Amino acid sequence: MEKIQIKDLAFKIHISEQEINQRITNLAAQMNVELAEARPVFIAVLNGSFIFAADLIRQLDFPCEIQFIKVASYHGMQSSGKVQELIGLNISIEGRLVIILEDIIDSGLTMDYLVKELAKAKPAQIKICSLLLKPKALKVPLEVHFTGFEVGNEFLVGYGLDYDGFGRNLPHIYQAVEPTKE
Ligand code: IMP
Ligand code: MG
Repeated sequence: MEKIQIKDLAFKIHISEQEINQRITNLAAQMNVELAEARPVFIAVLNGSFIFAADLIRQLDFPCEIQFIKVASYHGMQSSGKVQELIGLNISIEGRLVIILEDIIDSGLTMDYLVKELAKAKPAQIKICSLLLKPKALKVPLEVHFTGFEVGNEFLVGYGLDYDGFGRNLPHIYQAVEPTKE
């Protein structure tokens, strides 16, 4: 098993590039049926979702738009619980079906905040699509319409997800093993 080191942490592969690709192909196929007539606006949450969003939307075969927003709420390995400002939404979403694209939902506080903020702009409906979901970590009830993988509470990096800014470029999703002693 390929092990890698990022700063003080060792990681091993948890979900391979091939498994990710396969799951995204399935998600896209589901959307191609369910959203074909809906003309949705995808709103991808930076930074983590940039690779997921790029891979997913290239497999969609219906008319859609994509926008990128940012909410800074996470530092290091623990969700800070405090959510900051939403930036970057510069089109009207009034009356539209919005699909939020996220890399991972942990406590759910970021997503809860986002849904409430976006709702102020009066979309017809908001649906959530997250590549990864940590159901045991959820602190607020959330309806996630499209989920790539349910995972445990382990810390993950790769495929857009970072550990202190590093690891986003990794093609697989890795899970932290044990902290290395220095
Ligand atoms: P939440 O508000 O606790 O749901 O945290 C959501 C955000 O925290 C995600 O958008 C990620 O940026 C980050 N995050 C949560 N879990 C992980 C993880 O295991 N690895 C890397 N980032 C994570
Ligand atoms: Mg994120």
